Amino acid sequence: MERNGSWLRAMVVLTCLVAVSGARELEVRSKVHKAVYNHTLATILVEYASAVYMSDLTELFSWTCPRCDGKTKGFEVIELIVDIQHCLQAYVGVAEDLNAVVIAFRGTQEHSIQNWVEDLYWKQLDINYPGMPGAMVHHGFYYAYHNTTIRPGILDAVMRAKDLYGDVNVIATGHSMGGAMASFCGLDLVVNHEAQNVQVLTFGQPRIGNAVFASYYSDRVPNTIRITNGHDIVPHLPPYYSRFPQKTYHHFPREVWLYNIGFGSLVYQVEKVCDSSGEDPSCSRSVTGNSIADHLVYYGVGLMAETWGSCKIVRDARWKEHGGEDSKGNLILSRNPSASALRLPSDSDAKSNFS
Ligand SMILES: *[C@@H]1O[C@H](CO)[C@@H](O)[C@H](O)[C@H]1NC(C)=O
Ligand SMILES: *[C@@H]1O[C@H](CO)[C@@H](O)[C@H](O)[C@H]1NC(C)=O
Repeated sequence: MERNGSWLRAMVVLTCLVAVSGARELEVRSKVHKAVYNHTLATILVEYASAVYMSDLTELFSWTCPRCDGKTKGFEVIELIVDIQHCLQAYVGVAEDLNAVVIAFRGTQEHSIQNWVEDLYWKQLDINYPGMPGAMVHHGFYYAYHNTTIRPGILDAVMRAKDLYGDVNVIATGHSMGGAMASFCGLDLVVNHEAQNVQVLTFGQPRIGNAVFASYYSDRVPNTIRITNGHDIVPHLPPYYSRFPQKTYHHFPREVWLYNIGFGSLVYQVEKVCDSSGEDPSCSRSVTGNSIADHLVYYGVGLMAETWGSCKIVRDARWKEHGGEDSKGNLILSRNPSASALRLPSDSDAKSNFS
């Protein structure tokens, strides 16, 4: 009943919005938007974003899970955090081949995916991003990263890596809600922790803030790529009303849209690097966001848990040496990075990859 009522209200609001206005779309201005799409990197990171959905924490921590293979082989997890209360999961580790610390966030596990997607329609821009006048975000996205066990665990791990490697390259990734959290994490590292070399690459993430936020975000974390896929519904949400550019949610750049062309046996995937507006009308916005199936597979890699609607984890007594449960039942497993194999970012690295 409640939901039907909200739908009706929204339809009325929408109808009015569309009827009344004729404003132009808003460009997100960005001084230095230097994100360069790297297909190889995206196909590696999607495997990290997939692995974080695994529920056997022993396998995840030791990087022996069924998804902890392939392009991510040899990864060393230094922190694994499960926030039981909020049903969130993330890990931090060292990827020698990428010469970077990788942080991965899991997407939502709380309800069915359908319920979660329906709820996305109603997320309000209801809080200010601290220190940025006019930048608004949704409290749920913001607090999932900022007010849970996740953030302190991640910051601690990044600091430990920094102690060992100096100003190491950091890549935050995640799918869906995990992409929203990766974005807040990347911004947090830059704004509050003076991280220099931060890169964010997300898969099928929802919008998280308004145009002022998007503009601020892309200034601070210019090396950001948002991958969207076909008709994936989630990047279309919460809705963007092009006629009310100041009032609505607005994606930050840079989107890369994956879509299929051809038909029959001649279908192949195209990767379109979109404009720097964040809301390129010729990318995912050019199609109807009506697919959950397109949300769950990126680059042929499954991005979902084996079972939906559970925050279940597989426990193990052997974790004691790596930390364990806090009083609320949240889990944090840590180890120090052992491989001193990361190269320190040199001037030339900084120029070519991360500035
Ligand atoms: C793309 O990323 C891969 C993996 O990190 C790296 O080896 C390669 O050099 C990158 N390509 C370019 C053109 O930067
Ligand atoms: C988030 O944390 C801040 C600071 O600890 C607190 O004031 C605020 O009430 C919290 N908000 C939510 C929604 O948990």
